[in-house]
Formats: sequence, structure tokens, C-alpha cells
Amino acid sequence: MSLTFSTITLPSGPEHVMMDTENKLENMAKTSSNTIRILVCSTCTGNRDRNTETIALYQAIKNEGLDKTVLAEFGGCLNACSEPIAMGLQGSGRASYVFSGIDLVKDAEDIARTCKTYLELRKGWIVDAQDCGRLRHCLHARLPAWP
Ligand code: FES
Repeated sequence: MSLTFSTITLPSGPEHVMMDTENKLENMAKTSSNTIRILVCSTCTGNRDRNTETIALYQAIKNEGLDKTVLAEFGGCLNACSEPIAMGLQGSGRASYVFSGIDLVKDAEDIARTCKTYLELRKGWIVDAQDCGRLRHCLHARLPAWP
């Protein structure tokens, strides 16, 4: 299972959906050998419901057909504490990004579209961020890929 949340268990519904999508996405998995990671700060402040955040993010990623490609985890502080919620995006041989001021539920679709854009670019360096929606205004830091 490619979509993993480290601190909670997904409800039974999305797990069934994941099983259904495995066959549908088999071809995509063959052409997309790179897994990318979303790392969500679990300690950012705010009125948060981890379960709701998880479901929203999962559904958006699935809707973009990326649930075999995107690994989503909750982790520690990303040093963007003044603008919660912070989220990282990284992949091997790709640029790394930190976004802040994210609402995981409201921004879930924009997060998934950003992942899709990120995957479509050879080194993940996003120049035209129109497809990223509101996330294009939430960039906190980025680093180019290590050659
Ligand atoms: S507590 Fe979330 S970035 Fe520091």
C-alpha cells in the first residue's frame, strides 16, 4: 500500500478503495517508478482533526490517480511554525519544497494537483505553478534537486 499515514489508521472505506485502485493504477505504477513523499507537520497548531485531514488528503490523491505514487506521512516540526500547517514535498532526484499556511482539508485538491505537476517535471522544479492552486501562494522554501 503506497499511501501511508504513520500515526493513524485509515478508515475501512478508503482501504477498500485502495484495493480497487491497485489494479486500475498498475500501468501507471509501471511508468512511474519514483515515489514522492508529502510530509505533514503533526505538531502545527490549530483546530485540527487528523482523521478528517487524512481522509481529505487520501481522497484527493486518489482522485488524481496518484495513490500508488504518493507516500503521505505525518512527521515532526518543519520549522515553519509561525504559519501552520506546514507540509513538505520531496522525492529522490527532485526538488524539495516546504509549504506553510496549509489547510489540509480545504487545500487537499491543490496538494494533489501540485503532486501531479511535481511528478510530471523531470527534477520536480515547478516554474509555472498555476495548476497548484492556492499552494502557489504558500511556498515557504524550496531547494533544487541534488544532481
Ligand atoms: S510545529 Fe509545524 S512547522 Fe513547527
